[in-house]
Amino acid sequence: MSMLKAAEAVREKAYAPYSGFKVGAVVRAKSGAIYSGCNVENVAYPQGTCAEAGAIAAMVAAGETELCEVTVIADSPMPIAPCGGCRQKLAEFGNGDVVVNMFTTSGETTRMTIAQLLPGAFSPQHMKGV
Ligand code: THU
Repeated sequence: MSMLKAAEAVREKAYAPYSGFKVGAVVRAKSGAIYSGCNVENVAYPQGTCAEAGAIAAMVAAGETELCEVTVIADSPMPIAPCGGCRQKLAEFGNGDVVVNMFTTSGETTRMTIAQLLPGAFSPQHMKGV
């Protein structure tokens, strides 16, 4: 299945009764396998998790820690951009050149690298010597 098809499919599973904003995300790991995630909200609003976080968690649970491409989709007026926290999460597992494909459900798309989305990310290098 293509990353876009997988992202569309997992978006349908999103649990977003509070915002009504369903998001699907797929990461392709170094092995070539793809992992999907959707946003999962909670009545205690800050406990909700983003689609990207779910996809990353599925990848890590499968034993992979390197992502090579990311696709995100939502029913949005412009291609969905990962939130700040998810940019940091993506930077943990993908180098700056990794492409993030952003889509609307009506087919608009744009792509940016992780480095473009999060220049100067806080990285493990900052903690060298701790
Ligand atoms: N959301 C994501 O899942 N990914 C993003 O990159 C942006 C926002 C979710 C969180 C929340 O459930 C809903 O979209 C509205 O913010």
